[in-house]
This record gives sequence, structure tokens and C-alpha cells, in this order.
Amino acid sequence: MTHPAPGAGPAAFPLTRPRRLRSTPALRRLVADVRVRPADLVLPMFVKEGIGAPAPIPSMPGVVQHTRDSLRKAAAEAVAAGVGGLILFGIPSVKDARGSGADDPAGIVQVALVDVLAEVGSDLVVMTDLCLDEYTDSGHCGLLTGRGDGEWTVDNDATLVRYGQVAVAQARAGTQVVAPSGMMDGQVAGIRAALDEAGFPELPILAYSAKYASAYYGPFRDAAECAPRFGDRSAYQQDPARATAEGVREALLDLAEGADAVMVKPAGAYLDVVRAVAEAVDVPVAAYQVSGEYAMVEAAAAQGWVDRRRIILEQLQGIRRAGAGIVLTYWATEAAGWLDAG
Ligand code: PBG
Repeated sequence: MTHPAPGAGPAAFPLTRPRRLRSTPALRRLVADVRVRPADLVLPMFVKEGIGAPAPIPSMPGVVQHTRDSLRKAAAEAVAAGVGGLILFGIPSVKDARGSGADDPAGIVQVALVDVLAEVGSDLVVMTDLCLDEYTDSGHCGLLTGRGDGEWTVDNDATLVRYGQVAVAQARAGTQVVAPSGMMDGQVAGIRAALDEAGFPELPILAYSAKYASAYYGPFRDAAECAPRFGDRSAYQQDPARATAEGVREALLDLAEGADAVMVKPAGAYLDVVRAVAEAVDVPVAAYQVSGEYAMVEAAAAQGWVDRRRIILEQLQGIRRAGAGIVLTYWATEAAGWLDAG
């Protein structure tokens, strides 16, 4: 829309000027409508069995594998910054075919949970990742079975039984939300049934519903020491070449199986899936800004190639704008501090 210009000006002036509402910081603040609150953020944390000091993760500068002690302290820092939740990943000292450490009551996540709950259990939501890849000697997310041709595949239904056992072990140790991330078919239903039967009908499930076989998980596999010893996860995680609708279907299946909230992962390259899932469901939607997203920003910022703080905030805003109410991010504590500061 234009209207005639007076005098000798251009032939026409724009009637609509979006710049009007951008002209001062106060106006911009007034009309801002994408907000990231500290309480929206969830901090993923690694805790490793049998180490005496926190171990830095080279591909994730600023992130460590915690001892039980340093985990407690970092959790308290997250609380002080106003972070909404944390999600625990355990790294056992011994791995085996069935991932025994995952549901051992004396296993690393179970004992670390007790510590963390005592420290912060009523100040934020303490969640546990529920998978087997950190615990199996194969590095795969489930139990392997032969296919008869010398090849191996992950046995979906045998794995479901293990997931049920792990869920119950985590529940007994006091987890406040279980987050199954293995992408087995029927995992939410299996875990729900196991939890209900064991007396945990109130324990929520945050399902990693749309989880892609992503190169962005590279640094995590150092962090959690769970790189597959052979093969990859393409036979169970989603193919990045599939259209958005497959992610929506996975989320709807998980809801039908009893999921209380759903997740899309990774976040940045899958914002279309975040948006589509957010429109399709009426439960909270989380998005996981994963290790590779973290590592790329840290690497570029270390070179001075990007403004670290601005780019982190911009990515978080993008994820929220796409429709995620909850954002899992390794920057949770630091970013929460910025957000608090306005
Ligand atoms: C599997 C799991 C993975 C991540 C979270 N849960 C790795 C994978 O699927 O290979 C990745 C998280 C990240 O990259 O930050 N238990």
C-alpha cells in the first residue's frame, strides 16, 4: 500500500511501515513475542562411574563428564540460574551385551539420581534419558540379534523388555520423568505398562518421538562413550530424507501409547518437524539442541567468527518460535543467566 507523496518526494510513500515498531529498544521490547524463559530450558548432564574428577569433553568445550559430586554442584548452579529441568545420562565403567548397568540399582544413574534429588529434587524437574546405548558393549540402543547373514540388527521387542526394566529401575531411584530415546517401535507403550505394573502410574514419559539418525550427535558419542562399534543407527532412528509427516506420525503414535510430552531431535535442522508436531499435538513439545549444534557454535565462536551469546540466544528463539515449549540445551545454565539479566 502506498499513498501519493507530497511535493517533490518519491512518487509514492509506503503506507505500511513495519520499521515503525522497530525504532527504539523500548518499542522492540514491548512488541517482542518470542520469549525464552529459564524455566523452559532443560540441561543435559553426563555422570560417569568411577572417575575422581570431572572429565572435559574435547568436542564439547565447557561440558564435562561429571563425578557424582560435581554433578550435584552443577545441578545446584542450574537451579540458581532458574533452569526448568535437567536430564541425566550415565556412563558405566563396564558395558555388556544386555546393558546391565542401565537397570542395576547400584548403577551410575540410579546412584547419581539419589544425590541429585537430595540436592535439587524439588527445585527443578529431574529427568533421566532411557536408553541402552551407553550401557551396551555394541554401543547400540538395544539388544542385538543375528539376521542369519553374519549381520546384526537391533531386536525391537526384546529391547522393549529391557526398556521396561530400566524404566522401573529409574523410577525406584526416584526419577521424576523418564525420557525414552531409543526409537524402538512400541517403546512408550512398553514402558508405560512396566511402570504402571510396578506401581508408578503417575510417572510421566517424555518421549523422544521424532528422532533422526543425525550427524549432529557426533560429539555426544564422545561425551557418553556410546559410538556404535559397528554399523550405525539408521535402522531405528529416522531418515533425514523423510518428509515432515513421518515425524508427526511418530509423535502421534507415542501419544496413542501414553506419552505425556513429545520431543523432536535434533532441533535446528528439524524446525519444520517441531512446528508440524506442535500443531498436531496438544501436549508439551520439547526440542533437543544436540551436541553437534553446540559444538559448531562453540568452535566458530572460539575463532571469533560469530558472536557467541547472540547466536545462542537466536538459536533458542528460533526453536521456541518453531513451537517448542521446552528446549534441551547444553547452554541451559549460562543462557538462563542471560535471560534473567534481561
Ligand atoms: C541415545 C541418545 C543420543 C543422544 C541423546 N540420547 C545419541 C544417539 O542417538 O546416537 C544425542 C544427544 C546429543 O547429541 O546431544 N541414548
